[in-house]
Amino acid sequence: MAKRTSLQGFWSSRLAFILAVTGSAVGLGNIWKFPYVTGEYGGGAFVLMYLAFVFIIGLPTMMSEILIGRRGRRNPVTTMQLVGEEESGRSAWKYVGLMGVCGGILILSYYSVVAGWAVAYIPKAASGAFVGSDAATVKSLFNTLTGDPWALLGWHSLFMGLTVFVVARGVERGLEQAVRILMPALVIMLVILLVYSIRHGDFMAAVNYMFRPNWDDISFEGALVALGQALFTLSVGMGAVMAYGAYLPEETNIGTAAITVVLADTTIAILAGLVIFPVVFGFGMAAGGGPGLIFQTLPLAFGGMPGGVVFGTVFFVLLSFAAWTSAIGLIEPAVAWANEQFSVPRSKATLAIGGLIWLIGVLSVLSFNVLKDEKYHTPLGTLFDTIEFITSNVMLPLGALLIVIFAGWVMCRNSTSDELKMGSGLRYDMWRFAARYIAPIAVIAVFLHSLGLLSRFTNG
Ligand code: TRP
Repeated sequence: MAKRTSLQGFWSSRLAFILAVTGSAVGLGNIWKFPYVTGEYGGGAFVLMYLAFVFIIGLPTMMSEILIGRRGRRNPVTTMQLVGEEESGRSAWKYVGLMGVCGGILILSYYSVVAGWAVAYIPKAASGAFVGSDAATVKSLFNTLTGDPWALLGWHSLFMGLTVFVVARGVERGLEQAVRILMPALVIMLVILLVYSIRHGDFMAAVNYMFRPNWDDISFEGALVALGQALFTLSVGMGAVMAYGAYLPEETNIGTAAITVVLADTTIAILAGLVIFPVVFGFGMAAGGGPGLIFQTLPLAFGGMPGGVVFGTVFFVLLSFAAWTSAIGLIEPAVAWANEQFSVPRSKATLAIGGLIWLIGVLSVLSFNVLKDEKYHTPLGTLFDTIEFITSNVMLPLGALLIVIFAGWVMCRNSTSDELKMGSGLRYDMWRFAARYIAPIAVIAVFLHSLGLLSRFTNG
């Protein structure tokens, strides 16, 4: 069978691909979400489950997405359809791609609002607003921002505007260079913060909290949220990595690339936790502080350290950048789909899809102020909480499950071993075993476990 070629060009090198996937993986998920969900679900046991899921589910899913993407060489919807037809004669697999396109749109709708907070904190940090502050002032700073719908809307619009601008011009692959500088810079900033946290926070309490599992703390939801977090932070389960895999040259080794990304992403998340929690415990704050956690802890660190105005400004610039490279990955499946399927020019497709995402994002903006009240809540919380929960903890696990089943069971051994270029060696067998058995069984087990969640609601 003649191999297809990508319609949108190729990555210039293996490093370029690794940088792009790392750029999409490392973002708010590592620095904002990981500490906040860890705090909400009680620490150690949650962190261990998250780590286990990253390696037994996230990694095989990432490899599956890349190999399917490279096989299909199209947007995730068409790719799943084409490869599905080739391997099984069924085109219905395209709906997995379609769910991913919808997932990306929904995730970006609230992601952009949180990214807006990061952007809003750049001028705050630069103007010295954090200097000498205490827990109470930092908290009120955050509440003032989120309580103002117009301010949130402004920052959300700015962030979406920037995302649409790059993607519409199709220059996002020029971001290779940006990611190349950004990632090391982010790690350096986290290490500087880590030094502060070790010296001024309660570091041992944080280490105990993060790594000493207390299995009694784990609710039915905990395992599901840990799974959702593992997939979210790696950007897998919705075809984003599949879309990037479509532009991968034939000879690149998929396993090595995926492992590199997974290790980089996990290191950054753990580092972020080791920065945040010493501050939380050292300053007597609540670990379960919710989505505002990093915005109420990091400013304290910046406010109290020498050079904090500069470091704080640089940090929020880097965080905004990291969110931006992720946002580009979130919108890419939808844009590539509209472009290839309906022949809409890239620029128009980006504008239309970006506009839709912006509009849905307004719901998240209002969740923190106008619609904050209990009476506007769903059983899962505010509209923001609801969209976040359903995308991360239902859509991503379901997408990942279908993707590994497709790669492990529907695709024949020859096709996958041909793409993975691991021959029939031990490493290939390990991937195939994980994709066929370990990952699907683990996802299903977590789903079943969390059904306890349903009974909790019905029992009132
Ligand atoms: N991984 C990103 C982060 O940690 C968020 C994300 C989830 C994402 N799914 C994605 C990014 C798909 C790009 C594509 O911030």
